[in-house]
Amino acid sequence: MNLLIKNGHILDPSQGIDSTGDIVIEAGRIKEIVLQPSAFSPGPSELKVIDATGLYVLPGLIDMHCHLREPGYSHKETIRTGTRAGLRGGFTTLCCMPNTEPVNDNETVTEFILRKAYAEGACYVYPIGAITKGQKGEELAEMGKMYEAGCVAFSDDGRPVMNSLIMRRALEYSKVFGVPVISHAEDVYLSEGGVMNEGKVSTRLGLRGIPKEAEEIMIARDIMLARLTGGRLHIAHVSTRGSVELIRRAKAEGINITAETCPHYFTLTEEAIGNYNTNAKVNPPLRTERDIEAIIEGLKDGTIDVIATDHAPHHRDEKLQEFDRAPFGISGLETCLSLSLRLVHEGYFTMKDLVSKLSFNPARILGISKGTLKQGMPAELVIVDINKELKVKAEEFISLGKNTPFDGWTLKGMVVMTICKGELYEYGNREK
Ligand code: DOR
Ligand code: ZN
Repeated sequence: MNLLIKNGHILDPSQGIDSTGDIVIEAGRIKEIVLQPSAFSPGPSELKVIDATGLYVLPGLIDMHCHLREPGYSHKETIRTGTRAGLRGGFTTLCCMPNTEPVNDNETVTEFILRKAYAEGACYVYPIGAITKGQKGEELAEMGKMYEAGCVAFSDDGRPVMNSLIMRRALEYSKVFGVPVISHAEDVYLSEGGVMNEGKVSTRLGLRGIPKEAEEIMIARDIMLARLTGGRLHIAHVSTRGSVELIRRAKAEGINITAETCPHYFTLTEEAIGNYNTNAKVNPPLRTERDIEAIIEGLKDGTIDVIATDHAPHHRDEKLQEFDRAPFGISGLETCLSLSLRLVHEGYFTMKDLVSKLSFNPARILGISKGTLKQGMPAELVIVDINKELKVKAEEFISLGKNTPFDGWTLKGMVVMTICKGELYEYGNREK
């Protein structure tokens, strides 16, 4: 693939680039970036020219937290469909959580995922291995072998590691491999039976609540264990004000901690559940206005390093059950960038901050050489029109998971092209 992307606003935090220019792609790699576009002439070789005037050209986005459901739950999503949904959302790299069937708790499953991703994945996939065998929280999984096989982090996501000694050991091992332990922070004794945030709305709806303390207590514990071990702790899907404060203080103290949140936690409150809308049922649950404010503040001041999707696709029939029975999760890959752009449009932070949270920081935290437009690197990039409106239509999602609380919303900003693995994907406006 030979391409000339002309006159786009190139933004690459890894090289400090934030200006108009041209990018030449040859044989699927970045050949050259020229920051005075008018001075550049492509020469004799055959190049397809893309006019990116008025558009942003960014390093491909990296989702460090998603669920691709294979092996085991291919009725919810597959690596084939999930990676294509990722590209639609501007992601060229996805890190998939281990709560599959079987659980990714050994190198055989890791290798299966990697082989499948190589054969069928449209973008890059990095597996995250389980901390404990079967994610049961009882016995450490073979972290070393999974690391050797290609896991970039460890997590029992979907469940916490309730046993503090096991969490301590996981953090100690993580130090040896230099990879993060990703904490799904939830005290299951406090959250048991809960299906939404605990508060006035849960009382009104007659639903069992999950108090914010279920998340915050475990973050406090994990911070203490990170202090004890010096291990690398990454907090998944931060949803409360108190969590942001705990992480902020831990960072100030110099603890080895990073954190992520997801677009639904800075966009929606518990009110989105409305009349028992199961598409707004997610774990941790949607919280309150006060929590949203704190999360945005945390993103602004760097307390929260990453925006991840926690893309959790489920089958329509599963979400059609009554609220108590429906599974937790939001299909997030195809709306993440547009929802995150609101924070730029509303002046909370800059495009550079956004690219850091969606590409540069995840790469840095995971230690993968991605999230950059450096010369010689494989061309993984996304072209974005930050003003073009995207009408969200769940039925048109590429993901098999149509479970979004944003169906019918009009969002400002959308992906117009994604380039990955030598292919160019063009996306029209779905408004028509
Ligand atoms: O909402 C969620 N869905 N939260 C989780 O922790 C797990 C995830 C899933 O796997 O569906
Ligand atoms: Zn998750």
